[in-house]
Amino acid sequence: MNLPQRVRIVEVGPRDGLQNEKQIVSTDTKVELIARLGAAGLPAIEATSFVSPKWVPQMGDNAEVMARIARLPGVDYPVLTPNLKGFEAALAAGAKEVAVFGAASESFSQKNINCSIAESLDRFVPVVEAAKAAGVRVRGYVSCVLGCPYEGEVAPEAVAGVAATLFDMGCYEVSLGDTIGTGTPGKTRRMLDAVARRVPIDKLAGHYHDTYGQALVNIYASLQAGVATFDASVAGLGGCPYAAGASGNVATEDVVYMLDGLGVETGIRLEALVETSAWICERLGRSNGSKVSLARVGCRR
Ligand code: HMG
Ligand code: MG
Repeated sequence: MNLPQRVRIVEVGPRDGLQNEKQIVSTDTKVELIARLGAAGLPAIEATSFVSPKWVPQMGDNAEVMARIARLPGVDYPVLTPNLKGFEAALAAGAKEVAVFGAASESFSQKNINCSIAESLDRFVPVVEAAKAAGVRVRGYVSCVLGCPYEGEVAPEAVAGVAATLFDMGCYEVSLGDTIGTGTPGKTRRMLDAVARRVPIDKLAGHYHDTYGQALVNIYASLQAGVATFDASVAGLGGCPYAAGASGNVATEDVVYMLDGLGVETGIRLEALVETSAWICERLGRSNGSKVSLARVGCRR
């Protein structure tokens, strides 16, 4: 089986990982987390989101985070922008890459961004145009690609339709989100095959939450299909505020451990990542969601 020789990992811990954290996480902690992740060799670190602070209070310090992070050369610091207002704030804060986020399920779209799928896609067009004019790269997300917390099964063709619209609009890459982590490898492969008929496989990323413990094996199935970019969250932090019960993304260190074992390059130093994982869990006073970190440093709580 030919696997990609190199994989790009997009670290989403500071955004996806922290957005649902009940306690207020200080800006200092966010800035230090991003610095540590950069030092561990992550090539892309999703730093924050420019969404309504009424909807997601945890990301309310977005501009301050962007002002204070030390940007390492060669590292991308994308941020989420649901609309033009968010994009303009992100641009003013110095973002060089943004992400628009839609869904393959109508109910989730309504709950998450308060509009239908079609309305959201219309809303993203001016964001992509403004970004292009400003020389800012745009990534696209599709949520609920392997199941919806409100509607259950989601058809692969529905995912493919939204992904293709985002790609055709000008997103350089489309990240496919298993928001509630219900996917299994066969289902993942069928979804990817449907999407890859509309969007080149090397323009797709896997974003798998680990609620059912299936994320790593879904990544492996995706690698076999030719996907070479994956989103992950240090210590498996996180969950989505609009998907009750959804746990965090697959832990970054678990993905790196698997890829190291497969001989797939990531450029990430596992030991530094494990140290960062232990540090953030201690800071947040929460248990570690990474098996690799637990094996290497033990559970600190
Ligand atoms: P809305 O209420 O429909 O927006 O929210 P609106 O345009 O009617 O505006 C209402 C108010 O929000 C106004 O303020 C606007 O100025 C303000 P008011 O006049 O009441 O004082 N507003 C904003 N403020 C700051 N930044 C903005 C912004 N836009 C409007 N960008 C909106 C629509 C999208 C803003 C809202 O629904 C929202 O913020 N949702 C947050 C969704 C979110 O962050 N979800 C989590 C991230 S997605 C995710 O986790 C999934 C992913 O990981 C992939 C996966 O796992 O599947 C990516
Ligand atoms: Mg997510």
